[in-house]
Amino acid sequence: MSELALMRKKISREREARKAAEQLLEDKSRELYLINKELEKRSNKVTEQKEKLQKKVDELQLTRSQLVQSEKMAAIGQLAAGIAHEINNPIGYILCNLSSLNEYLDDLQQVLKKQTECMGNMYVTKGAEKQAIRELAELKKQVGLAFILSDIDQLMKDCMEGAHRVKDIIAELSEFSSIRNPGLTREDINELIEKAIKVAWNELKYKAEVEKQFSELPLVLCNGGKLVQVFLNLLVNAVQSVESRGVITLRSRHEGSLIWIEFQDTGSGMPEHIVSKIFDPFFTTKEVGKGTGLGLHVVQSVIDSHGGKIAVSSKVGKGTLFRITLPVDGVLGMESD
Ligand SMILES: Nc1ncnc2c1ncn2[C@@H]1O[C@H](COP(=O)(O)OP(=O)(O)OP(=O)(O)O)[C@@H](O)[C@H]1O
Ligand SMILES: [Mg+2]
Repeated sequence: MSELALMRKKISREREARKAAEQLLEDKSRELYLINKELEKRSNKVTEQKEKLQKKVDELQLTRSQLVQSEKMAAIGQLAAGIAHEINNPIGYILCNLSSLNEYLDDLQQVLKKQTECMGNMYVTKGAEKQAIRELAELKKQVGLAFILSDIDQLMKDCMEGAHRVKDIIAELSEFSSIRNPGLTREDINELIEKAIKVAWNELKYKAEVEKQFSELPLVLCNGGKLVQVFLNLLVNAVQSVESRGVITLRSRHEGSLIWIEFQDTGSGMPEHIVSKIFDPFFTTKEVGKGTGLGLHVVQSVIDSHGGKIAVSSKVGKGTLFRITLPVDGVLGMESD
């Protein structure tokens, strides 16, 4: 073959090879374009799913905070029942005393009327005084004036005491509600525990002896209302763990920039596998309707928000000990709602 023919053949082969390469490039570009499109579609789908998931997470968080709120409401409902019971007692004897006082007042009015008549008679009819005085003495005996006069003092004292008790309960209640205690204040933790005991007293008194081993504490920067709720949840759990009768020991100590408090009971105690779950929301071993399983979850979030810690140790059949440690001066960024 001539050199020219060879050259032509080479050029034609090269042209074909170029054409094939161009075709391949075009095919690959198209493929790439399609893959790109597909990726874009998928990425849009992923973003969409991510948004949907975020929405679900937001919804769940809202439900969770609503549940925590409803746990608070349930706790307040339980308290309200206890407080109603506590108020019922003093109001009961105040009413009873008032009805006795009402009867006494009738008798006293009769005596006074008679006495006035006597005084009148003495001036008007000479010699009638003996008869009038006799009648008066008779009436005094009849109504039991001596007893009335001595009993009036006691009844009044009891009424005053009962009314003061009701006033104290109401004061405790309004302090407990977040309306009067909205933010951070310096509080005596021993006093807050006392408040929780008073509120839970109705449940405690039948099943547990409360032993206080408090020591003097510095005032702690905290949300008092929320801490009372924490102490209340721990007290209620402690008393609920007691089968028939037990002891709840409460301790408090100050150590440097911290304070700690302990709630110890002689109740049922818990095995290790239960202890590891007690702070989980909705974990409860109590029968349906008795526990929501949010008590300790609320306890932990309140203690966390105060920059504190909570630890637990428990022995089946022996009892449980919760220890809360709190910084005296609170923590930066502590919520102040
Ligand atoms: N002092 C305790 N002794 C024994 N078990 C306890 C004690 N405190 C908590 N528990 C266990 O931890 C579980 C969770 O407690 P938590 O307070 O969170 O919920 P709950 O008491 O069951 O219900 P509630 O929401 O009414 O408080 C309880 O069901 C109980 O099994
Ligand atoms: Mg509880």
